[in-house]
Amino acid sequence: MTSSLLTEVSAAVADGIAAADPALTSADPLVRPSERADFQSGAALALARRAGLPPAELAARVAAGVRTGTLADVRVSGPGFLELTVAPDAVWRRVADRAARADLGLPRGEAGKRVVIDYSAPNIAKEMHVGHLRSTIIGDCLARVLGRLGADVVRQNHLGDWGTQFGMLIQYLDEHAEAAWRQDELAGVSPVSALDELYRAARARFDADDGFAGRSRARVVALQSGDPATIAVWREIVTESEVAFRQLYDRLGVLLTPSDSAGESFYNDRLAAVVDELTRAGVAVVSDGAVVVFSEDETGPDGAPVPLILRKGDGGYGYDTTDVATLRYRVSELHADRVLYVVDARQSLHFRLVVEAVRRAGWLPGGVEVAHVSFGTVLGPDGRPFRTRAGDTVTLSSLLDAAAGRALAVVAEKNPALDPAEAARIAELTGVGAVKYAELSTSRTKDYTFDVARMVSFSGNTGGYLQYAHARIASILRRAEGEPDPVVDPSAGLHPAERALGLALDAFGDTLADVAASLEPHRLCTYLYDTARAFTDFYEACPVLTAPEPERGNRLTLCRLSAATLREGLALLGIVAPERM
Ligand code: ARG
Repeated sequence: MTSSLLTEVSAAVADGIAAADPALTSADPLVRPSERADFQSGAALALARRAGLPPAELAARVAAGVRTGTLADVRVSGPGFLELTVAPDAVWRRVADRAARADLGLPRGEAGKRVVIDYSAPNIAKEMHVGHLRSTIIGDCLARVLGRLGADVVRQNHLGDWGTQFGMLIQYLDEHAEAAWRQDELAGVSPVSALDELYRAARARFDADDGFAGRSRARVVALQSGDPATIAVWREIVTESEVAFRQLYDRLGVLLTPSDSAGESFYNDRLAAVVDELTRAGVAVVSDGAVVVFSEDETGPDGAPVPLILRKGDGGYGYDTTDVATLRYRVSELHADRVLYVVDARQSLHFRLVVEAVRRAGWLPGGVEVAHVSFGTVLGPDGRPFRTRAGDTVTLSSLLDAAAGRALAVVAEKNPALDPAEAARIAELTGVGAVKYAELSTSRTKDYTFDVARMVSFSGNTGGYLQYAHARIASILRRAEGEPDPVVDPSAGLHPAERALGLALDAFGDTLADVAASLEPHRLCTYLYDTARAFTDFYEACPVLTAPEPERGNRLTLCRLSAATLREGLALLGIVAPERM
């Protein structure tokens, strides 16, 4: 690993602070990237009172104690800011060092930590919708970033494969021999659409027909107690659905594999023990025939504590119970240090209640972090939750088709010489990349508007812009193909545009660490966008292939590191960067 300039400058300022006043030895040096110099520190302003000195005086003493070959200039500005300028040769040494390493010198700050990430989690026998798309894309990005920083990532796809709806579905199939839903019975319709339709039909009958509703409930009991005939149909339904989910995962290029699936059914035989133990511990109580945990933290609109329902009056277990068993399993059997739930914001109360119950049961050791990585709703152009005209939620594949179709038009216009098969391949990567990037580049907690035209544009902060920026650098590098690897001469001058790009490239690892801590992928998007623009500025200001040595070698190395950083950054977003576009 290569320590970043930010890390090194921070350490230097910390030394300066300790030299100025030994009592301030462990104070935060507060170093940030800056517009006016390379970095800035406001530490003297923050610490002046403790030091008993005017900020400018303290800043001057700190500046006098900052000693490192990395910095060419340290000066006090304004009321007591430190402005820190990195030495040109230090910038070049970083660039050379990172470019020479396959891992780009990235940190491994998450090594030794096991992180369980719960994401995607579509519901069997239903179409995956745009909310599951968000979960899938955000969760996959976090899995990649944390894994890249050394974490031991355990992906968990908490499929909705259990519960009362299956009683209804299986009963309906039993009573309606004509209902076609298996792949081999269907022509042209995806099994999931057919299952989705079956679900609606069963639901309608369930709501309208009490007799059917009663028989469906009996089916749930049969399912949960393992009746072989019922289980056989259930298994078939799950398998059909999973085939369709898998097609989407493949198209999206996400990391999830069948072995990551641990659906709700997986926890079925642990539920009774969970309820018993919680009851014996006095955490759960019987209320109106149900077993519940009343929250000590959350109250409803009436001021009464909100209950987490562990066992319903009819003896059945539900979503709440399963999540308590799931969290317990992840901590005690998967040995998670961190458990992340990438689930939409509407479930935040649910997760707070689950975590509270598990903590009160004593199943959550203090060192384990549990986070609800929540996200907002996807909106249509009318500002309402995104739906098709018929009123149904939009299917994911139709959405990707629209993005890829649009990308094909853009690609064909940009590069008419591309052979049609290649253009189609690139359009698929661009379309899927555009949808992913749009998801990841907005702050995840906000609602965002689904707008295919804007997503697939090649200008502005979009996936296509970054893919194109990468392809452009790749084409510059192709013109130097066959030459020996470029050599960096740290003593050559440093143009301001080279400096800006070099510093941006050096901050890649800091950005990833920031994403790992904040769980905000949009910070990586912003970083890549800024870096691509720093490259454009550099390329406009500094000739590369026609420059004399040593500039040529230095600049080619900057090009190589820029391409590698964009390629790797996009890969961590789950987006492929084609070599040509
Ligand atoms: N299947 C659920 C849904 O579609 C999401 C499950 C999220 N994960 C969990 N452990 N509850 O809403």
